[in-house]
Amino acid sequence: QPKAIIFDLDGVLTDTSEYHYQAWKHLADDEGIPFTHEENDIHLRGVGRRESLAYLIRGRQYTEAQIQEMMERKNNYYHALIEQMTPDEVVSGGVALLQELKTAGIKIAIASASKNCRLVLDRLKLTDYFDGIADGYCVVNGKPAPDVFVYAAGLVGVYTPDCVGIEDADAGIEAIKAAGMKAVAIGPTSRFHHADKVLSTMENKHLQDLLIG
Ligand code: BG6
Ligand code: MG
Repeated sequence: QPKAIIFDLDGVLTDTSEYHYQAWKHLADDEGIPFTHEENDIHLRGVGRRESLAYLIRGRQYTEAQIQEMMERKNNYYHALIEQMTPDEVVSGGVALLQELKTAGIKIAIASASKNCRLVLDRLKLTDYFDGIADGYCVVNGKPAPDVFVYAAGLVGVYTPDCVGIEDADAGIEAIKAAGMKAVAIGPTSRFHHADKVLSTMENKHLQDLLIG
């Protein structure tokens, strides 16, 4: 049994990955840049704000000031979407799972690339469940670098091989594996390369489903 389970937030505990997509799509439309949901899933899912914008505007010339303004505009679009969120938007069975893990004596932590992580957790009323929260303010090197997962393991005082990480993005699975943890992927098998286990959805999962081998 793992000593800690470290959750990604967006696209795992709630469907905010869809809101991130909608906000980027809004910005892409403003700028007349073609952008599809499929491109989002391959290139932007789980990836930081600046790296995401770099993909979107690749090959186009923008000044640093324009880049800053576009990141802010996307974030404003994203804020408008998450401001409306309620605890109903926690993945079905999510709260029961967190309670089950707590009862089993397993530490639970968040490893998110997002600077809006705490805002979303507050809207979902999930903040108090976590023994540690590592977000977009904690580490410089984003996923697929292992840093945010290693940081989260440190927050809960557990060695990385005793941790299981859960991710909906391939960059996140790479980060978990690079951190020396077991990786559970959420989504279609075709999205992932190095996951130890793939589950099609996070809905109504139990500790048993998250165990490997
Ligand atoms: C990740 C999301 O959790 O956070 C990405 O999956 C997002 O879509 C990244 O770009 C950074 O988020 P934010 O809120 O700091 O722009
Ligand atoms: Mg995610």
